[in-house]
Amino acid sequence: MLKDKTIIVGVSGGIAAYKVADLVSRLRKQEARIHVIMTEAAKQFITPITMSTLSGNPVLDDMFSNQGIVNHIDLALKADAMVVAPATANIIGKMAHGIADDFLSTTVLAMRCPIILAPAMNDRMYLNSVVQENLALLQRRGFVIVQPESGALACGTEGPGRLAPVEQILKVLWTSLQRQQDLKGKKVLVTAGGTREPLDPVRFLGNRSSGKMGFAVAKVAAERGAEVVLVHANTHLPLPPQVRAVPVTTAEEMYHAVIKEFSDCDVVVKAAAVADFRPKMHAEKLKKQGNQLTITLEPTVDILAQLGRKKKKQVLVGFAAETNDLLANARDKIEKKNLDLIVANDVSRPDIGFASDDNQVTFLYPDGRHEPLGKMTKEAVAQEILDRVVHILNNKLSTENEE
Ligand SMILES: Cc1cc2nc3c(=O)[nH]c(=O)nc-3n(C[C@H](O)[C@H](O)[C@H](O)COP(=O)(O)O)c2cc1C
Repeated sequence: MLKDKTIIVGVSGGIAAYKVADLVSRLRKQEARIHVIMTEAAKQFITPITMSTLSGNPVLDDMFSNQGIVNHIDLALKADAMVVAPATANIIGKMAHGIADDFLSTTVLAMRCPIILAPAMNDRMYLNSVVQENLALLQRRGFVIVQPESGALACGTEGPGRLAPVEQILKVLWTSLQRQQDLKGKKVLVTAGGTREPLDPVRFLGNRSSGKMGFAVAKVAAERGAEVVLVHANTHLPLPPQVRAVPVTTAEEMYHAVIKEFSDCDVVVKAAAVADFRPKMHAEKLKKQGNQLTITLEPTVDILAQLGRKKKKQVLVGFAAETNDLLANARDKIEKKNLDLIVANDVSRPDIGFASDDNQVTFLYPDGRHEPLGKMTKEAVAQEILDRVVHILNNKLSTENEE
């Protein structure tokens, strides 16, 4: 997996820098091309000679005197992935705020490949809200954080802040590399947002979906090489790059937009909250009359069920946003709608679900398996969904080949 990949290892000035010698050595054994960048502080903890010997390349540590060998832009252009370990509170702060005052922080700004951060520091520093906010900011921007462990720290205290095991950092690096371009050549249709069903010319029945989950799936699918069509209803989010957007308002419009794109799709992720019922539209604004108003609702078209009936090669992923009996309702839906995967989430919790940046979901499969995930950003959930989708696509392909 790592053979001939170019991996940049950024080392900043923390006690755990010595552990990164092991990381570099293991990368080298897997035949990766490694370039180590060290900050001035890192050189207080481990010598450049150790890192250059283990990596097989000179250590990069000076913006100006290294010009003849390789500069930060060259490095960024040829990198397949970057790992910053240990990531100090200082480098985390610099990365979060675009500061580029040494070789490492300048290179980070030029990178377009996955960047993995493995923070390590004293627990009081790690739990400081400014460090936590910087990490959250970087995570929202797509940096992958390998959380530090809790335990005995070099300064004699106990708590969170110990560098994650090298094994785990390697695993995260491997997953990030695997995700690159694994949807190339695939067409992915994503729906997002909440439909609005007009009641009269000025009013509508709607829901609280912000579209964040669907937008995250669209963004990540495009980054992983897919051609992405995003059918979105009533959202106010910036469109992800490299995504073809189709704006709609009602369930009916969403149905037509989805059906138009469906036949040549490989994957459909239906993250939109679509109205189940719509009112009869009044041509003129309703006037206040008496103390009661009765609105009669009629069912809208069930888009997911329609797709389930029509599907041939497509991998179909649905969402079950529930406030009660989450798993039972999701299991019912997966069967009725002929889905390959359902993502169940509890929208009654204020810290996840609608409009939140985080989500905590359970995956359910047609064979009855269910897989609960921890709380994570919606972008991280999107990556997990697409990992499962790639797996299902590969299984379908190998079954076809066997037949
Ligand atoms: C003995 C010692 C150990 C340190 N360990 C850490 C550490 O584990 N994590 C951290 O964020 N900072 C640590 N620091 C502080 C950093 O070295 C300092 O903030 C430095 O400016 C970081 O620079 P850099 O991010 O450019 O490498 C330590 C400092 C000393 C003196």
